[in-house]
Amino acid sequence: MAFLRVASAAFVFLITLYVFLPIAGPAADFEEEQHLTSTKEIPKFGLGTWLSDRDKVAHAVEFALDSGYNHIDAALIYENEDETGKGIASANVSREDIWVTSKLWNEHHRPDEATKAIKKSISDLGVGYLDLYLMHWPVAFVPGKGDKLDKEITIVDTWRAMENLVRANLTRHIGISNFAKRDVQTILDICIICPYAHEFETHPYLQQQDFVDFHKEIGMKVIAYSPLANMNPTYDSGLKPVLEDPFWKDLAKKKDATVAQTVLAWGIQRGTIVIPKSVHEKYIKENQGALKIEFTEEEMSEISKQDKKVRMNDPGKSWGVKLFADLDDPTDLDEESREL
Ligand SMILES: NC(=O)c1ccc[n+]([C@@H]2O[C@H](COP(=O)([O-])OP(=O)(O)OC[C@H]3O[C@@H](n4cnc5c(N)ncnc54)[C@H](OP(=O)(O)O)[C@@H]3O)[C@@H](O)[C@H]2O)c1
Ligand SMILES: *[C@@H]1O[C@H](CO)[C@@H](O)[C@H](O)[C@H]1NC(C)=O
Ligand SMILES: *[C@@H]1O[C@H](CO)[C@@H](O)[C@H](O)[C@H]1NC(C)=O
Repeated sequence: MAFLRVASAAFVFLITLYVFLPIAGPAADFEEEQHLTSTKEIPKFGLGTWLSDRDKVAHAVEFALDSGYNHIDAALIYENEDETGKGIASANVSREDIWVTSKLWNEHHRPDEATKAIKKSISDLGVGYLDLYLMHWPVAFVPGKGDKLDKEITIVDTWRAMENLVRANLTRHIGISNFAKRDVQTILDICIICPYAHEFETHPYLQQQDFVDFHKEIGMKVIAYSPLANMNPTYDSGLKPVLEDPFWKDLAKKKDATVAQTVLAWGIQRGTIVIPKSVHEKYIKENQGALKIEFTEEEMSEISKQDKKVRMNDPGKSWGVKLFADLDDPTDLDEESREL
């Protein structure tokens, strides 16, 4: 018996050695590798940067990060990643403590273009690697030809190229954005490295609860863009700003919060990741308040009745592509039948 005890102690010792040896080398090696092996998940709250003025975004990003934000949503097509990078560099945060997402633009869907594009984003953002790289739209443009559709390449080809970006250590994760159900399925059927997240439009006026639930079931994170519904000034929904919506004003009052905080808090409680954009210190701070608000089951059920199924962002028509045919897409309906 004594022999057995000694033998099993030796066994445990050897296993322990085996498990801990790989990280027992110089600390620097471990740190360099950590971003690849870390299981750190995407933070449920981040800062958006679309339409953030070039001369304001650096300050907004620095202010947000120094105020406790740890997640920045960027994209090459926003034409401000260099300024966003200045904000990241000025903030008092280490690279491994923040999450940075960027996106592959439509004209960079061909494999060599994709590699160039991610390197440009990484260099402009000054981050060394991305945490998440998204295919911005399931639509390819011919490189250098404006928005002329590229018939030479499919989203499957582009996904294969993106898988190689993970293998090249340029990004920790890859994902998709603005995909219809059938496009998600196309990628799920072929992926070797599968999408970590799907970023799409969803908010109180376009809830898409079934679609959100579908992602939850397959374990793909949902990043809710335009989480403040129709606050983006380029959206022309025909609806009054959500901040003036009597339902949301009442609920906010009850929660002793602002409407923006209340709307964002709902996005978080339903399990989506929200990325409100602002370039104003006041709003950047205010929006963080969303993390402290909780709703009862009954309140959540009341909110679900507020869906208006209004999609704000659909460039598909100008590109000649039907993007959201299998999703709530009331832009297909005539004005009368929209639930305004
Ligand atoms: N993947 C995609 O295709 C895609 C598409 C759209 C958006 N996105 C991402 O999602 C992010 C957020 O979406 P979004 O920018 O469309 O819309 P949003 O974040 O829902 O709304 C932004 C607008 O709301 C204002 N705002 C923010 N907080 C406010 C507050 N507390 N009170 C009053 N007004 C407030 C901002 O003003 P100021 O800026 O003037 O402060 C800005 O005009 C984008 O920035 C982008 O990163 C991705
Ligand atoms: C930067 O962050 C560190 C660690 O959180 C803190 O000790 C230090 O005071 C901060 N410096 C500034 C200038 O805020
Ligand atoms: C990626 O990083 C891993 C772990 O550090 C390393 O083993 C591998 O060689 C790297 N791959 C490339 C293409 O740099």
